[in-house]
Amino acid sequence: MEERMVTGEFQEEDSVELSLRPSALNQYIGQQKVKENLSIFIKAARMREEPLDHVLLYGPPGLGKTTLAAIIANEMGVQFRSTSGPAIERAGDLAAILSSLEPGDVLFIDEIHRLPRSVEEVLYPAMEDFFLDIVIGTGPSARSVRIDLPPFTLVGATTRAGLLSAPLRDRFGVLSRLEFYEAKDLCSIIERTAEIFQTSITKEAATEVARRSRGTPRIANRLLKRIRDISQVKGEVEISADTTADALTMLQVDDEGLDHIDHKLLKGMIENFQGGPVGLDTIAATIGEESQTIEDVYEPYLLQIGFIQRTPRGRIVTPKAYLHFGMKVPGSE
Ligand SMILES: Nc1ncnc2c1ncn2[C@@H]1O[C@H](COP(=O)(O)OP(=O)(O)OP(=O)(O)O)[C@@H](O)[C@H]1O
Ligand SMILES: [Mg+2]
Repeated sequence: MEERMVTGEFQEEDSVELSLRPSALNQYIGQQKVKENLSIFIKAARMREEPLDHVLLYGPPGLGKTTLAAIIANEMGVQFRSTSGPAIERAGDLAAILSSLEPGDVLFIDEIHRLPRSVEEVLYPAMEDFFLDIVIGTGPSARSVRIDLPPFTLVGATTRAGLLSAPLRDRFGVLSRLEFYEAKDLCSIIERTAEIFQTSITKEAATEVARRSRGTPRIANRLLKRIRDISQVKGEVEISADTTADALTMLQVDDEGLDHIDHKLLKGMIENFQGGPVGLDTIAATIGEESQTIEDVYEPYLLQIGFIQRTPRGRIVTPKAYLHFGMKVPGSE
């Protein structure tokens, strides 16, 4: 896959982000609704001295699911244990993790939609009644052993809630969907990050970065890091709006936060398919990307800003996108 400045997916250069993660709910910017709900559930669970209900966090990459999962553990005052769907290959792997938990701990499973089905089935009774049913041996000597577990909270994260099996989804008491961030919240995140980087940025510049970060904190932080380098080399004491605009142009991020791949996708649809409707697989083949990547990573933001629409017969490019490219909207004068 091509390197992209504006993908919400984690990249090597984002490794600083550990130090950028807020650790308490009141430092977690935006996502008001999700925060309000969680804060009530956390308070109630603490009052009852019970573990929090299992929580499923879903939404596009880079919106803060992992960050929020760690915050939940902090706010509950318990340990945070972290693994991922693909890392748990066998039921035994899961059993080992679960039986090592302390009462009340948060077990975070990232990419939970990628748990093998056989592991998932072991997870059901663990989530529901805190026990494991493990089959030991094979053939006629096989027997099932019941292992009691400490009560725990499972926090699952996925970019693809649709791929989760219904029985698994139903076992989460709290389902929270993370949304793309509003510009003002991204602005606060950028200012916070600048402070941690020990630099300052003008309001105007922060607003510009926010506008071009696809509603995604990870992208905002990544862009800020690059812009800071350029600003520093120029000898600025404060990151200016001019430098920001130049840097973003240099990084080939346009006014709407779109890059050459978005352009290729939209123009491909316009030039080869008269703007659609065109199926996802066809789009994927045209631009040489996986359908799945387009659906999870590229498309959500284009849908959000109304540049494409989903119809039963496929995706269509909207007049807004034509206007963005300075193209004539089909059927208009
Ligand atoms: N609400 C927020 N306030 C401040 N910073 C945030 C917030 N949400 C995310 N961030 C920043 O964005 C970075 C990316 O967030 P995080 O890794 O939690 O995203 P994610 O949704 O887990 O992504 P992925 O889908 O790739 O796992 C974090 O390191 C953090 O610096
Ligand atoms: Mg994550």
